[in-house]
Amino acid sequence: MGKVGLVSVAALGCFKASFFMPLIHTHNLVKSYGTGVQQVRALDGVDLDIEQGDFVAIIGASGSGKSTFMNMIGCLDSPTSGLYELAGQNVSQMSIDELADIRSQCIGFVFQQFNLLARTSALDNVAMPLQYMRSGKLAGLSKKEQKEHARNRLAQVGLGDRLSHTPSELSGGQQQRVAIARALVNDPDLILADEPTGALDSKMTVEIMELLKSLNQGGMTVIVVTHEPDVAAYANQVVIFKDGKIIEIKQQHQTQAKGTSSLDTAQLVSNLDVPSAL
Ligand SMILES: Nc1ncnc2c1ncn2[C@@H]1O[C@H](COP(=O)(O)OP(=O)(O)O)[C@@H](O)[C@H]1O
Ligand SMILES: [Mg+2]
Repeated sequence: MGKVGLVSVAALGCFKASFFMPLIHTHNLVKSYGTGVQQVRALDGVDLDIEQGDFVAIIGASGSGKSTFMNMIGCLDSPTSGLYELAGQNVSQMSIDELADIRSQCIGFVFQQFNLLARTSALDNVAMPLQYMRSGKLAGLSKKEQKEHARNRLAQVGLGDRLSHTPSELSGGQQQRVAIARALVNDPDLILADEPTGALDSKMTVEIMELLKSLNQGGMTVIVVTHEPDVAAYANQVVIFKDGKIIEIKQQHQTQAKGTSSLDTAQLVSNLDVPSAL
């Protein structure tokens, strides 16, 4: 995705952010669940700008609204009130179908539990989203073209030699790489990863974060929810949530050495009092 598009072109598929606007802009974003005394404000007036090409870590204690915020950014849900603009387009007002199109064309999702189909090869897991593309430049590819595209993405994450392996024949780190290849298969503008290393040991965590870092260095905007200091250390911006609000935004340099966290980030995360059971 080029960084220099000057116009937002929703009609053509993926948005292109301009020089003059952030890729993501939220203003007074609110998400409430329930009514009356039962009401929970999972997001309570969130203002945030994320530029194209940023690498952002979102941290905060359990229940602070991180996943709710990712669901809004990922167009999986609509806010109760407030503004969300993606490359200048007002996403908060869009219909369910429009949101589905944005998700399938512009956003790649990575989850803690990989969410791969168990009895399906790596290649077919990665190709799967292409079958459901209703519009955009990747809609209507032949089966052969879909597999070719998926093969390229698996090669990009270093799994070009594991195409026919099923998830149970792969390590946790490899399964997460398959999931990242699947997230990349629609050529997204944005990767959203909610606790992507939560089910991985420290060696595999480094493997996955190095991969996300290399994607970011190639121009991809990456947003990661985490409670691990070593993971947050990869980001150049750390956003701290508490009780549905952003309480601090911290700029930081990206990690110099593999798997080491900056003291600042470790301090930030340890100050959050995150339950160890997370
Ligand atoms: N679908 C839902 N219905 C009701 N409450 C919810 C729902 N999703 C989240 N919440 C509540 O919103 C708050 C924020 O949740 P969440 O965004 O999952 O936090 P985090 O990801 O930071 O742990 C919590 O109090 C949670 O219980
Ligand atoms: Mg969560």
